Amino acid sequence: MNNASYLSFFGFSSAPFGKEIGDADLWLPPSKQDLVDGLCEAAAERECVLVLGEPGLGKTCVLRAVRHRLSPTEYRLTYCHNATLGKRDFYRQLCLALGLSPSATAAAVFYAVSSHVQELGKERVHPVFLLDEAHLLHSDTLDHLHILLNYEWDSRALLSLFLIGLPELLDRLTLRRHRSMLSRIHRRFVVGPLTQDDTADYLRTRLRLVGVDREPFHLDAVALLHDHSGGALRDVDRLATAALREAARKKRKTVDAETLQRVLDAEGRERTS
Ligand SMILES: Nc1ncnc2c1ncn2[C@@H]1O[C@H](COP(=O)(O)OP(=O)(O)O)[C@@H](O)[C@H]1O
Ligand SMILES: [Mg+2]
Repeated sequence: MNNASYLSFFGFSSAPFGKEIGDADLWLPPSKQDLVDGLCEAAAERECVLVLGEPGLGKTCVLRAVRHRLSPTEYRLTYCHNATLGKRDFYRQLCLALGLSPSATAAAVFYAVSSHVQELGKERVHPVFLLDEAHLLHSDTLDHLHILLNYEWDSRALLSLFLIGLPELLDRLTLRRHRSMLSRIHRRFVVGPLTQDDTADYLRTRLRLVGVDREPFHLDAVALLHDHSGGALRDVDRLATAALREAARKKRKTVDAETLQRVLDAEGRERTS
């Protein structure tokens, strides 16, 4: 069954578990709301933070919710996810993300970024650099980052760095060579897996966004889906979509545990073939 026909079979206005979701529509149960509040508070206090979590738990979406919350007249958020670059190219990318033209030499690029931060300070706009996938940062980049935080003989907090990544980011930062950066991190946030109630709430919320009031997932299917996703939203998205497609193929308006099990079996077969 192709995409359009499963959507029309259920009467969805768009794919319920796709990654295209507006910042204002993001699902924020209390656990995620706490994270968003904490991150906004850290930005207000001009702090640097770490956000850690396994893949697919919703780290990047939490950042989007933060972007939605912070006023653009008070904060300038710059999002970078190209962490695999070496130091010079990393700062060149940062220049581009800031709307500056990157210069040729490493020193000039770094100077452009830090002057820009100082200019924003004069305008009373607080810059926040969000470095996503930061566990992938080159060691020389990670080594150097704390220098970005030094303004006026290290007497002013003109920049907040948010480092977001897998839990191994913390292992890297605890290495002796990165202790200067680690000592500048004010707070650590951990994005944890969903509870089963969260999973049920998430399914309901996203289905409501595409115009569905009556829930197609049986309770036993929700429990099975939760167990197999390990509480990770990206896996919930994948399995829920596959289960809805499978139900539509069988012309069934509901997803029961049996339907989901067929999807899981098919995934298992694909993995072993
Ligand atoms: N707060 C949220 N609201 C709605 N959907 C979400 C939310 N968090 C995660 N998701 C869904 O889960 C997927 C993976 O989330 P993402 O933030 O990319 O995870 P991570 O960055 O931790 O790998 C997203 O594409 C989205 O479909
Ligand atoms: Mg991410």
